[in-house]
Amino acid sequence: MTQASPALTQDELKTLVGQAALQYVLPGSIVGVGTGSTVNKFIDALATIKDQVKGAVSSSEASTARLKALGIPVLDSNEVVELAVYIDGADEIDHQGHMVKGGGAALTREKIVAAQSLQFICIADESKLVKTLGQFPLPVEVIPMAAKRVVRQFAALGGVATIRLKDGQPLVTDNGQIILDVTGLQISDPLAFESQVNQWPGVVTVGVFAYQKAQVCLLGTAEGVKTLVF
Ligand code: 5RP
Repeated sequence: MTQASPALTQDELKTLVGQAALQYVLPGSIVGVGTGSTVNKFIDALATIKDQVKGAVSSSEASTARLKALGIPVLDSNEVVELAVYIDGADEIDHQGHMVKGGGAALTREKIVAAQSLQFICIADESKLVKTLGQFPLPVEVIPMAAKRVVRQFAALGGVATIRLKDGQPLVTDNGQIILDVTGLQISDPLAFESQVNQWPGVVTVGVFAYQKAQVCLLGTAEGVKTLVF
């Protein structure tokens, strides 16, 4: 375990795990890159070894912009059959590597890039580690015309779904859809839950990553970076 000072801030822990993820980047490879403040630290670290990689497949317009600004080539996911690793953060991760993701509204592209990767390396600070998923409001990307019905379907499960807003208007994702955030859920069987919600008409992606779970989590703690293997 890498040693860290107990005084490290959450931002410094994110930097630590972002840098630690470099050990999973294979020389000459194309790297799957997630989205969020922790991933931004990874992208900054990746820029220091950019001559050693072919480029990245990105999960959002935001990450694409950051990668390009730092001189890292971004490839279309359709140009790449398989990626060795996908590196991304999480809003919650349980002790089996199942995650809730989508706090940055990028869940659909994140799941696509994760699906074409052999290993999902999750980078997170220890506040994200939970026993049962569901404390963080679950993001779900939906087609707008289905929103009200999907809200009712979540209500039948005991969840309260609200449309995510930005500047007072429904947030529009990179895919032109909207996000519901669902509170009040206890997701004790992530695989079954993901299967169930994915079948609801109009749901583009549910933010439970059970089929695309993490194989490794680099967790930033006061004692340093802990490596959890699932
Ligand atoms: C974006 C995500 C992020 O990985 C998740 O929200 C964690 O973000 P951060 O590293 O900023 O805490 O799923 O859609």
